[in-house]
This record gives sequence, structure tokens and C-alpha cells, in this order.
Amino acid sequence: MDDAGVDGRRRDRPVADDDAIEPPTGFRERAVASDAGVYDAFATEGPDAWRRAADLLDWERPYERVLDDGDPPFYEWFPDGRLNAAVNCVDRHLDERRNQLAIRWFGKRGERRSYTYLDLHREVNALAAGLRELGVEEDDVVTLYLPMVPELPVAMLACARIGAPHNVVFAGLSAEALATRLDAADSSYLITCDGYYRREDAFNQKSKADNARLRADGDLAATVVVDRLGDALDVSLGADEHAYESLVDAHDGETVEPVARDATDLLFVMYTSGTTGRPKGVEHATGGYLAHVAWTTRNVLDVRPSDTYWCAADIGWITGHSYGVYGPLSVGTTTVLYEGSPDYPDRDRVWDLIERNAVSVFYTSPTAIRSFMKWGAEYPDRHDLSSIRLLGTVGESITPKAWRWYRDHVGGGEAPIVDTWWQTETGAIALATLPGITPMKPGRVGPPLPGIDARVVDEDGEPVDPGEPGYLTIGSPWPGMLRGLREGDERYRREYWVEAEDGWRYRTGDGATVDEDGYVTILGRVDDVINVRAQRFNTAELESAIVGVEGVTEAAVVGDDDGDVVAYVTTRSDVEPGEPLRTAIGEELAREVGDLARADRIVFTPDLPKTRSGKIMRRLLEDIARGEEFGDVSALRNPEVVGEIESAVRSE
Ligand code: PRX
Repeated sequence: MDDAGVDGRRRDRPVADDDAIEPPTGFRERAVASDAGVYDAFATEGPDAWRRAADLLDWERPYERVLDDGDPPFYEWFPDGRLNAAVNCVDRHLDERRNQLAIRWFGKRGERRSYTYLDLHREVNALAAGLRELGVEEDDVVTLYLPMVPELPVAMLACARIGAPHNVVFAGLSAEALATRLDAADSSYLITCDGYYRREDAFNQKSKADNARLRADGDLAATVVVDRLGDALDVSLGADEHAYESLVDAHDGETVEPVARDATDLLFVMYTSGTTGRPKGVEHATGGYLAHVAWTTRNVLDVRPSDTYWCAADIGWITGHSYGVYGPLSVGTTTVLYEGSPDYPDRDRVWDLIERNAVSVFYTSPTAIRSFMKWGAEYPDRHDLSSIRLLGTVGESITPKAWRWYRDHVGGGEAPIVDTWWQTETGAIALATLPGITPMKPGRVGPPLPGIDARVVDEDGEPVDPGEPGYLTIGSPWPGMLRGLREGDERYRREYWVEAEDGWRYRTGDGATVDEDGYVTILGRVDDVINVRAQRFNTAELESAIVGVEGVTEAAVVGDDDGDVVAYVTTRSDVEPGEPLRTAIGEELAREVGDLARADRIVFTPDLPKTRSGKIMRRLLEDIARGEEFGDVSALRNPEVVGEIESAVRSE
């Protein structure tokens, strides 16, 4: 099924405590989802059950059909319905909660800004009018290259209002990455900023955007520049560049008629690493995506309007799209947006924000939780975190130990934790417990959500026995699913779908096991994608940057148990591996791929283990990095190198 295969030696991960933990009674009594009958209802009703999700939204033209599955794997959800995402996230809340906060923003320098739903409505409309003035029309793709500032969700919603799909590029990505994404999305409008703070320093984002513009093949018709830094950084604007503030001021008070979109129309494109060096443009449709996101925000994250909810993920990635912006705003809650880092000015910054804002639902990644653990329990313990009702985690597997730490020190030993599995492509949460209904098992994600036909299968597509490793697949469509790839139908079909006897099956690219109760445990990717710091990178993307450094001959990149990136690097014989080379590799990764693409460990080795056909045995390198046992290496062309690599890792 997949080149790399599921590693037969890596069975079920040890889960320290397999006793299921029941949802706390107090929580269960007040939970949004408290009726266990929901599982059966979805099982008997089929796709129709998803009306529950779609009916959380306001439709401009009500849908009659739920799913068109006439041409698999090209599925259409709510195909005859029409709606506008910005109306669902802003306008429809005005009657009931115009003065309630929609966004609470905290900047890196201790700045604060709040937007009520009314404020948000005003600025989204003004920007939508401004974008129209600049020539943006329905279906034009607008690229957003902004850090965590409120202008980012405002811009997403302004685009949605006028039916212009957005293409958010994580602000830390390089000029090269931005250029590739502008071209690939065929986007001629860009919204960026002068710069932003990194620790103490003002960092020039605009010059990166300028650089991307030079590198891109296409031309930009207009660029809008947010002034994030004020006097700290002066950037001059060219003829087709416009200050965000002037544009919004010029249209202040205007109302733009929202464009009713077909449910199947594109809401946004999001580039993510795939199995080749080039990123894939994942396309999400308006109706199915928003319905699934709204439903899971309520039923999995248990969010309601009266909450102050904080998803700590950057909006530059899918988690921030679905659960930092569209989910919380579609259900009318208050969402916290935090620009800074978790340890600045001190390591209790996150806990301080939770306490001061009485955050009730907090959603973050195991990477962040590992850092919190490393810094020590004294930081959360210093604060009153009793406002927390529910905790969530996403992006990687969480160990039972980290799970317990999170629950004890952040959740007061009481709050349920939802370990949510999903992907850029699934759009919304697909596997998780329903926190008021389903017992939790630390270290296991949980069963699929109602309506998600997840199956762990072997090479032949047959279900595996409990505890045996297999491939995680999804057997029938779900509303939040990608509607396709920017790269075309053929690539979409080839990349994700297999036709089995009983229909089409979506391949997630993850290895997994399932236990007797149907709880899934994720083993990691089975392709050349690694998850580090809760982000997804293609190994080839990182390796080609490393090999671009003078003196480097080959590189292989793997992830270790801590979610760190380990790069095995070979050099030319006349090059001394050492600190200068490490620095050069770090710089090249930042330049070519982006800030997050740092190699946490660089291991210089005389050679890389290869099969007889010359393929690098990444799996073996991963085992060595993780300090795990590995099997027979006699099939290697160069088995002698394994010992040398092991000692290089040990002497690091
Ligand atoms: O390998 C799985 C891992 O993250 C991948 C998806 O990455 P991305 O598209 O960047 O989206 C990340 C956030 C939704 C998956 O294929 N992953 C996601 N959630 C979990 C996980 N691995 C283990 N446990 C999870 N809860």
C-alpha cells in the first residue's frame, strides 16, 4: 500500500494505563454532547446524520441533498445549498451578542486588543470593500502572509465575505516557500505586514514578501501591508502597495453584501507537505467544511458562546484555521489569539493568560505540553486555573505520562482531555472521544467520531487484529474532507484514494493500531512525511535544503520520540564536520524552508544505510535516533555503517 510500509516490529505502543477513565459526572451533566445514542444515530442514518452539523449553520439557500456520491472519490456535501462563511461567523451573531467579545488578542509586547462581534463586523466589511476596490473578485485567490495578529482572521473573513478563497502562508515560512505558494495557487493578491517581533527584535517580514515577489513567476496586482511595528520598522510602499489601515479607514462604515457561495465552492486552499518535495494545495469547500468544524467545536471541544476558548495553534496551519477562527466564531464564542511565545516574558505566560481571562477550554499540542513539563509544574501550579473545563491536544501522539501531567497540572486533575486526530485534509476532527460520553484512555486517541468510518487495515485492505499495526483509512466520505487538490483531480485520486471491493477508501498516511474497544492509537506516518513540533514536513524538502550547503553530500532526516528533527549528514572528504557546518545547515533550512524547519540534532556520519537499490533506510535511522532496537540489517548494501552511525549518535 505504501512504499515505506508499516514497521512490523513496532506493535502497539505501551500504554501505561489501559483502564478507561469515565467522563467526570459534573462535566457529563453539562456537556454539549451527553446522549450516547448519537453513535447509533449516525450509524443508522448514514450521511443524513450530518444534517445535525449543517443545521448549526445559517443557509442563504437551504440544502436539500446531503451528499452527492455519484462520482467517487469526488464527493459533494450539501451540493444544492448556498451560504456565506463570514455571515455564519459574524453577521448572524449580531442580534444576540453584538457586544460580546469575538476576539481577545494578546501581542508580544504585552499589547491587547479586543473585538466585539460588532467590531469584527465593521472591520471585515471595511476590508472586504477595500479588497473589492483593489480589484479582488469572487474566486480570486488572496494570499495572506501574516503572523498572529487580529488582521489575519479579519482578512480571512473579508475574503470569505466576497467569495475570494484565501491561501494563508505561515508567516515563518521563507520567501521561497511564499513564492512557490503564490504561483501554485495562481494568486495575484497578497496581504502581509511590515514585520513582527521575535523576542526583542523587530523582524522585517515585508522584505521577505518583496523577495518572494521577485522569485515568483506570476505578478502581484496589489499588496496590502499591515502596520504591526509602527515606528520600530519603517517600510516604504510601492505603487501597487496599500497600507491596511488606510484601506480600512477609507471604507469604514460601509457594508458589503455577502456573496452567497455554493456549499461546494472553495473557501480556502492550504498548502501542506505531501509525499513529494512540492507542497500540495488542499482545497476546502465552504459548506461541508464549516458544518463539520462547527459540529466538532461544539461536540468534541464542548465550546459554547459563554466560553472563553483558546486554541494555541498558529492560524498559518489548519488547526488555527478550523479551531482558532472558523470553529469558535461560527459557534459564537470568544476566541483568544496569542501572538507571543509561551515562555516570554516568563515560562508561566500561558497560565497567566488562562487565569486572567478565565479560559475554559484550552487546545494545544503534545510538543507544547512537553515543553511545559520540561519547564516544570511550578509554573502552572502558581496560577489559579480553575476556569478550565476541558483540555484538548492535537498534532502528534501524546504519551500517557504527558497526558497525566496535562490533566493534573492544567486540568486540576479533573478536566477531561480530548486527544483529537485529524489532518489538513480531513479539515476537522475525525477521531476523538466525545468528552461527556466516551471514556478516555491516556495515550490512545479514541474511537472514530460518530459518522467517521475509520478502519485500520493491512496491505490488502483487511481489518487488522486488535493490537496489530496497520494503515489508518476512512471508508466513506465526511463533510470536512478536502474537495480536491489544487494540482488536479488525478493527483487527488492517486494521492489519497484506493478503490476496494466495497467502495473507495481514503488513505490517511498514518500507521495505527486499534484495541478491542475500537480505540485507535497512532503510530506515526508511513510515508516520507514527519511531524515535528506539531507541523508536517516532507523529508525531501528538508533534505534538499541541507544538501544545498557547500560540502554536504547526502542527508536523511527523521523524527525522534521527542518530536525533534534529527538530520544524518555526510560530507565531502575534504570538509571538516563541525560547528560552522552545523550553523550553515541551520541557516539554509531557515532560508529555504522556514523558521520551524530547524534540525534539533545533526549527526555527521561517513555514510547512510542503503538498500541494494540505493534507497536510504530511513526507518532504521529513525530507530537509531529513538534508541530503539532494530532488526536484521543484512539486506543493506553497506551494513557496516550501522555501527558507526550508532556510535556517532551516542557521542553527540
Ligand atoms: O500523523 C498524524 C498527526 O498529524 C498528521 C496531520 O498533520 P497536519 O495535516 O499538519 O495536521 C495537524 C493538525 C490537525 C496526521 O496524519 N496527528 C494529528 N493529530 C494526531 C496525530 N498523531 C497522533 N495523535 C493525534 N491526535
